[in-house]
Amino acid sequence: MGGKVDWFVIPECVEDILEIISFINNEGYDWFVLGNGSKILIPDRGFSGVVIYTSRLKNISLDENVLIAESGVPIGELINLSIRHSLSGLEPLVGIPGSIGGAVVMNAGTRYGSIGDVVGTVEFINNEGTLIVKNGPYFGYRDSEFKNKKVILTRVSLRLKRAYLDEIKSKLILTASLRKTQPKYPKQFGSVFKNPPGVNAGRLIEEAGFKGFTYRNVQVSPIHANFILNYGDSADDIYYVINTIQEKVYRLFNIKLESEVNIIGF
Ligand code: EPU
Repeated sequence: MGGKVDWFVIPECVEDILEIISFINNEGYDWFVLGNGSKILIPDRGFSGVVIYTSRLKNISLDENVLIAESGVPIGELINLSIRHSLSGLEPLVGIPGSIGGAVVMNAGTRYGSIGDVVGTVEFINNEGTLIVKNGPYFGYRDSEFKNKKVILTRVSLRLKRAYLDEIKSKLILTASLRKTQPKYPKQFGSVFKNPPGVNAGRLIEEAGFKGFTYRNVQVSPIHANFILNYGDSADDIYYVINTIQEKVYRLFNIKLESEVNIIGF
């Protein structure tokens, strides 16, 4: 969600990104990377700078049980491919709408596992425009060494395991069943806040009285309080609700809720 940006660039390949970064650095522009845009919030007034959208970085290859994907590939596409080749490892991510690049940056997942569990090598371009290949990068709970860093992931390798199709299917069904307690519609980010150590963010927000709380066209989900439902078109209104929740939860429980949503330029 959010307003307009000065430049919206859609590179076709890694070489394009190297050129873009050199242009950005020469001009002194601010920038950020957009994957699928599932967890990103830009102010209604817009963003002054360059957005690099990875949707055309879509090459995929398979080498035995190692899946190599460019960062713009949707997670769902990789899951479908792994099912076709009887490869297991991505089942915990079924239903996550993002691109593989975004998923790696925030180590997306569910309680059955996260993308970091299967990542082998990551290729990325840093702020200076250098292409780097790294084995076994750091991953934590909804965290990676790429989070909040000025880097563009270009390619990842995923180490999967051969498995029987039945086994893969039952894992997919198990993960999909986790969504029963989560709203699907209308537009939303998925979980808005990380679970603080030992507590559930949704429970804290519910206990603070926010279930069903409505501000203009934004509503805290009446079924899962860590989901914010967007019935309108104002990022500023969503930002207001995020802040209001954070402030009240801190006041009541002395716990600082950390946003999973990438809030840029507010
Ligand atoms: N709960 C409440 N009130 C609420 C919501 C939840 O009391 O309004 C309590 C309930 O006791 C419930 C428990 O919290 O049983 C757990 O809820 P849920 O199963 O939905 O799990 P979660 O911890 O809220 C996490 C991930 C989800 C992932 C699910 C399932 C985070 C921040 N969220 O949610 O990930 O789908 O587990 O594994 O870790 C996402 O990151 O976008 C996302 C949806």
